[in-house]
Amino acid sequence: MAQTLVPLKYERGRLEVLNQLLLPHQEEWEIVKNLEDGWQAIRQMKVRGAPAIAIVAALTLAVQLHEQRATLTSTGAVRTLVHDAWTYLCTSRPTAVNLFRAADVVRSLTDRLEASGDGDVGVMIQTIIEALEGMLEKDIQDNRAIGRWGASAILAGAAAASGNSKVAVVTHCNTGSLACAGYGTALGVVRSLHEQGRLERCYCTETRPYLQGARLTAYELVVEGMPGTLIPDSAVASLMTSRSVAGIVVGADRVAANGDTANKIGTYQLAVAARYHGVRFYVAAPLTTIDLSLSSGKDIVIEERPAQELKSIRGVAIAPDAIDCWNPAFDVTPAELITGIITEHGVFVPGELQSKVENLTRQHL
Ligand code: MRU
Repeated sequence: MAQTLVPLKYERGRLEVLNQLLLPHQEEWEIVKNLEDGWQAIRQMKVRGAPAIAIVAALTLAVQLHEQRATLTSTGAVRTLVHDAWTYLCTSRPTAVNLFRAADVVRSLTDRLEASGDGDVGVMIQTIIEALEGMLEKDIQDNRAIGRWGASAILAGAAAASGNSKVAVVTHCNTGSLACAGYGTALGVVRSLHEQGRLERCYCTETRPYLQGARLTAYELVVEGMPGTLIPDSAVASLMTSRSVAGIVVGADRVAANGDTANKIGTYQLAVAARYHGVRFYVAAPLTTIDLSLSSGKDIVIEERPAQELKSIRGVAIAPDAIDCWNPAFDVTPAELITGIITEHGVFVPGELQSKVENLTRQHL
């Protein structure tokens, strides 16, 4: 079986993250001992990708709770630690909603446990740690379902167009097992096509300025034996004129209620080019990435990264020091350019997203 990359290693009380800034040529694991280490790993993008950010934050808190368990003598003290920890961890990166959703879920659980009034601090800590750890397993299951739904949608669309048995797809950034607990979202769709023997080729963009495509997606494709071709970000429109592309599939950091989607900078221009060329454009995202509290993408906070990350690559300057920079980490693709949003519960057109997600949330409460 193909080797699968993972962004973290965890056992109760111990968390290590793979420093993705050094991939693919160096594999260095860093121990996350406390909240500050976890915050830094996320902020510096040693670990990145919406689901992985939330999971590392959650497991960082699990480690901190485990470490401090002997000193927490009241349920109120546990509650304060949990709330303060999330307040701090949520300042690491603003755009991916998964982090904020994880915070809400765990804060509510903590409040309920405290209010239940049985007063057993040990049981309260154990229950919270188990909930934090549970996020790891759920993410992998959801991604496998996303992979299956997405592969079916792309194959169905391609069969309608040409009846070809294998399909070529384009992806952007890194949405694979390194961006999640495992398997991946958009790259999970690619993985599922490959597992079914239906992947002709995955074209991955290099994804300037952080090169998540060149460094991470290309690496995942190579390590896991999937047919892949690395292309410059600027080659996508040209690719669609010269080769047959069944679809573009990308991930998401936050999807608003109307389907507008924040994802890695450059996603929007891929969607514009796809529409021009009549190529289907899919967003793959678990329900944890859908934010019904925002009616449209206009309200999504877009992270801006330091100019230095644009003006240099691994410490080597590539632009004049004096040049001004604008370095947004994400952009918003309008819903009208999106063919379908692939979730773990099915593929929804943007117009039905809100009602479908509301129904699913009711069913799974
Ligand atoms: O800045 P990054 O590397 O965290 O951005 C990652 C992306 O934009 C991904 O497409 C998104 O988080 C989905 S990952 C499954």
